[in-house]
Amino acid sequence: MPIRIGVVGAGIFGVNHLNTFTQLSRIGVAELAAVAEINPERAEWVRKTYGCPVYADYNEMLAKEDLDGITVVTPDHLHKPVVLAACEAGKHVLCEKPLDTTVEGCQEMVEAARKAKVLLQVDFHKRYDPEHIAMERRVSSGELGKILYGQVCMEDRIEVPVEWFPHWAPSSSPGWFLGVHFFDLVCWTMKTTGKRVYAVGRKETLKNDYGIDTYDSISAMVEFKNGAVVSFDLSWILPREFEAIVNQDIRLVGTKGVWEIDTQYRGSRSCIAGEGMRTYNNSFIRESTDKQGRVVYKGYGIESIEDFAYNILALQQGATLEDLKGKYPSGEEGLEVTKIAAAVHESAATGRVVDID
Ligand SMILES: NC(=O)c1ccc[n+]([C@@H]2O[C@H](COP(=O)([O-])OP(=O)(O)OC[C@H]3O[C@@H](n4cnc5c(N)ncnc54)[C@H](O)[C@@H]3O)[C@@H](O)[C@H]2O)c1
Repeated sequence: MPIRIGVVGAGIFGVNHLNTFTQLSRIGVAELAAVAEINPERAEWVRKTYGCPVYADYNEMLAKEDLDGITVVTPDHLHKPVVLAACEAGKHVLCEKPLDTTVEGCQEMVEAARKAKVLLQVDFHKRYDPEHIAMERRVSSGELGKILYGQVCMEDRIEVPVEWFPHWAPSSSPGWFLGVHFFDLVCWTMKTTGKRVYAVGRKETLKNDYGIDTYDSISAMVEFKNGAVVSFDLSWILPREFEAIVNQDIRLVGTKGVWEIDTQYRGSRSCIAGEGMRTYNNSFIRESTDKQGRVVYKGYGIESIEDFAYNILALQQGATLEDLKGKYPSGEEGLEVTKIAAAVHESAATGRVVDID
């Protein structure tokens, strides 16, 4: 029997969840059993495109549908009530990042999943990027020695906060929307958590030119418990003319080696009349066609969502939550990431160094 998944939130990124479970149904692993979407026009589009039941209220979906798991793809600050309801109903949960924008909220969610004995997974897809996996292996094996310091940059073009979700961008920031990806990647790569943070945030163009009250940029220096210090430059105001929607890279330096990955410029570049310069991250989500002529999506952005279905499959085949520990981005790790992000925002707001824990 395929695993029955319900998706809550079918907006811009929710589509990737819908596509992932739709294509897993072709190999009998999972099926897109139902969707909850509060926007009626969007709900109608999902009904027509994916042909599954669509509910305005996720509680009604949880009550009426026989589901094994739920994925939560609502805005950053609106994950918690859905995750808590899913745990209460005894469903496994994949939550988009960040787990929640408060430490207390994450603690509540982790506790709810523990009590209900369900899987709580966070969609930190940077861990599934083959370039990052290669780095993690060599750092974990100790070949770079003791990691001393590093740098991360993650920047989006300005249309992300201005055109994609201006209504909820003030409830998020480059720290919550982008930073959490790399806070998690660095913690996972070094098998550590955050210790202390100093951060500076700037509010200029989004607030003054677009009336969106959130940070343009946040620069954070994070000291980790293993002794490494990593600086993170995060922003979402790159000009529309920038060659890719995301600019991102990471660099870690240890006592015995250095590892550098440019995950934006991966080698292909184009310039087409009327389009300007473009670079491509074909590792994230790429479209292809299967032997039957159906569209298939591949890449680490899909694999991290698929991984949730395969975790449920493992549980149904006899694995325990304990057996799966360390093999997926967990709620507990999502909590540690939110502790860093919350400290980053507190430091940016107060100008003080903030201790974590
Ligand atoms: N992993 C990634 O690479 C990645 C990329 C982009 C976004 N995201 C995350 O995905 C989440 C959604 O982002 P998005 O860009 O799709 O936002 P979006 O605004 O396009 O979509 C959110 C959708 O949730 C719906 N919604 C809100 N409350 C709801 C509720 N109570 N019940 C049902 N539906 C509800 C909205 O109507 C909307 O359609 C965010 O947390 C974001 O950080 C992850």
